[in-house]
Amino acid sequence: MSKIAQPDTLAGHFALILAALTAGRSHLVGLAQTEQTQGLAACLRALGAEIDCTGHTWQVTGRGIGGLISPAIPLQVSDDATAACLLAGALAPHDVFAVLAGSGHVPPRVLTLAETCGARIEAASPGALPAAMRGARNALPVTCEMPDALGLATALLAGLGARGLSRITGPDVPELVGLLQMLGADVTAEGTTLVLHGQPELHRATISLPHQTRLIIAVDGPAAAGKGTLARRLASHFALPYLDTGLLYRATGRRVLDAGHDPADHGHAAQAATTLTPEDLARGDLRGPEADRAASAVASIPAVRAALLDFQRNFGARHGAVLDGRDIGTHVFPNAPVKLFVTASPEARGQRRHAELLARGAQADLAEVTAEIIARDHADRTRAAAPMQAADDAVTLDTTEMNAEEALAAALAAITGTATSGG
Ligand code: CDP
Repeated sequence: MSKIAQPDTLAGHFALILAALTAGRSHLVGLAQTEQTQGLAACLRALGAEIDCTGHTWQVTGRGIGGLISPAIPLQVSDDATAACLLAGALAPHDVFAVLAGSGHVPPRVLTLAETCGARIEAASPGALPAAMRGARNALPVTCEMPDALGLATALLAGLGARGLSRITGPDVPELVGLLQMLGADVTAEGTTLVLHGQPELHRATISLPHQTRLIIAVDGPAAAGKGTLARRLASHFALPYLDTGLLYRATGRRVLDAGHDPADHGHAAQAATTLTPEDLARGDLRGPEADRAASAVASIPAVRAALLDFQRNFGARHGAVLDGRDIGTHVFPNAPVKLFVTASPEARGQRRHAELLARGAQADLAEVTAEIIARDHADRTRAAAPMQAADDAVTLDTTEMNAEEALAAALAAITGTATSGG
């Protein structure tokens, strides 16, 4: 029995096939290695794409539109109906001969679509696998109406390889359109119809599929190392929510101070941590030396850390996230597939924090600011509860000599080149 196409499988498969149709090397981040994705990757390799995968990061060197080659072996799709349909759609406008093998079938709407392009599919009975497929030499554009997302994606792949304008009517699936546009395809919506210009030059890209695996990116490191700036930029790059976990400790410390207690007092600090509200996190007085010290003090209390753990895990579990802090890769999300440990020399960090304070109009002395940072690092590193340290599988980025742009570029290179497995 064929599996029903799940939306997640569909977007992941669609992205993998698109990457194989780009000219150059693309990266897919956030696509889990499953039997299905590995099966599809094997088919795309047989069609001439080069594909490597580490953890949730895939490197795909594509063939360009029109560049797929006739495979020397059958394309084994086993019972993956999504792969069977999408491959039929992608091959229909290519001048290739391929055998699709497996236990599923190609549904009638996809057979009709392939014929519209000028392709031929032959099998023992219509749509059965194995099927021999001869793609069209000069594929014609498609005009069709598809009842579901899988049909829509299949028609989009067929239209991509055809000459001229295809017009495909179907459900609204912004993720598929977004992927096409990200790679440079010209696709626009006219009501419920997508108008697609065929045979575009698809360019290489880093394609993020964070919601496939609820991608977690852990960014840890000492004070003022540039974690926040980097984490914010990564979140925007991968369209993921962002959580500055330092704020949780800062807000907890601030509440204890407001109540007139010592932030090192376990009972009062734990009470403040368990009753934090969103308004506490939005306060304007969470930065500055006093808030820094109070945060560091409450952060060494196990009951405070325990109280804040669920919030952080729930935040990441909903849609994936980028989180910055001290213990994200070691305690909060020890299985995060991407872990960065961001550092910089104490002098560079002192200068950055000093400049930040001056920009906010605060009085600050560079030597004092640097000394405070060094003292806080020491406390964070040597405390018993979840001390700050790089996870064994984290990639360390020393940003002493980097500006924010360079740090982002280095982080993206680390993520796409060396992301570790897990998740
Ligand atoms: O912005 P900066 O790097 O100076 O600090 P932050 O990230 O806002 O964190 C403030 C303090 O909260 C740190 O010095 C740590 O003591 C504590 N913290 C922690 O223990 N664990 C985290 N995940 C985040 C912050």
